[in-house]
Amino acid sequence: MEVERVQEIASASKGNYIPAEFIRAKNEQPGITTVHGTVLEVPSIDFSDPDEEKVLRAVVDASRYWGMFQIVNHEIPSEVICRLQSVGKEFFELSQEEKEVYAKPPGSDQSVEGYGTKLQKELDGKKGWVDHLFHKIWPPSAINYQFWPKNPPSYREANEEYAKYLHGVVVKLFKSLSLGLGLAGHDLKEAAGGDDLVYLLKINYYPPCPRPDLALGVVAHTDMSAITILVPNEVQGLQAFRDGHWYDVKYIPNALVVHIGDQIEILSNGKYKSALHRTTVNKEKTRMSWPVFLEPPLDFEIGPHPKLLNEENTPKYKTKKYRDYVYCKLNKIPQ
Ligand code: SIN
Ligand code: FE2
Repeated sequence: MEVERVQEIASASKGNYIPAEFIRAKNEQPGITTVHGTVLEVPSIDFSDPDEEKVLRAVVDASRYWGMFQIVNHEIPSEVICRLQSVGKEFFELSQEEKEVYAKPPGSDQSVEGYGTKLQKELDGKKGWVDHLFHKIWPPSAINYQFWPKNPPSYREANEEYAKYLHGVVVKLFKSLSLGLGLAGHDLKEAAGGDDLVYLLKINYYPPCPRPDLALGVVAHTDMSAITILVPNEVQGLQAFRDGHWYDVKYIPNALVVHIGDQIEILSNGKYKSALHRTTVNKEKTRMSWPVFLEPPLDFEIGPHPKLLNEENTPKYKTKKYRDYVYCKLNKIPQ
């Protein structure tokens, strides 16, 4: 079955028309559900601050009360981020035929890897204004290079380099979150998969949309991952749900956006919160983003960390394999 890509729909669109399946229900339309004129400043954390205690507290507080924050002055050089972004952009600018070589194989239900158009099944049959490419970037044993574009030729090097620099940020985040729970520094990462923790890269490609007031890029969700670390391009689009309303999240050049995912909420027995977010699209510009989902291996069991549980702190979540969590979430089955 031929899937029509949003990029093709966008380039064929005339005037202000968009197909009905992209028009959200009234209670989701960004034009009427966004608090306009206010940009939300989610906590911004300076990783170069020599006061480690202060950085740790900031990560812990942001993860408890926001579930989302931005990291500035991290150790990933801006050239490394720029290269990741330019090779990703070049891939999406290839002909449709060249991109389809990397299409997610039909029937590969357990794996999301490949070029595609939709992940979550939406009950009302609506679609997000976005195409994507998924592939793992770490650990080397988990990588399927068949889903890494060969064109542009520097795609592989740019992605490997980004993965290499990302480790430092990952280690620092897990350590802070672990200490913030009163655990040893290494406990939380170990409980999330340890050295087998998978880094799954997604590139979101949101083409210009004639009706950004009616369509959404990615619908409201919390991330299933343990932690998500992402870099967007300069086009505004990330929104967070705060105190019952949707706000644009301030774009900070070169910052890393961090989402606490469901698995960290579960491991922390609810102390840390995964945050509800969504993305909007732009009338003239293409928006792109590069989230890396830090995920447990599919057969790894996740539940509230045993060292946190006692008579006062009883488990608030079930313990289950990550595979089963993903299945329930994608099929909207209560966890
Ligand atoms: C997402 O978090 O699901 C997408 C984020 C983005 O495109 O900024
Ligand atoms: Fe997300």
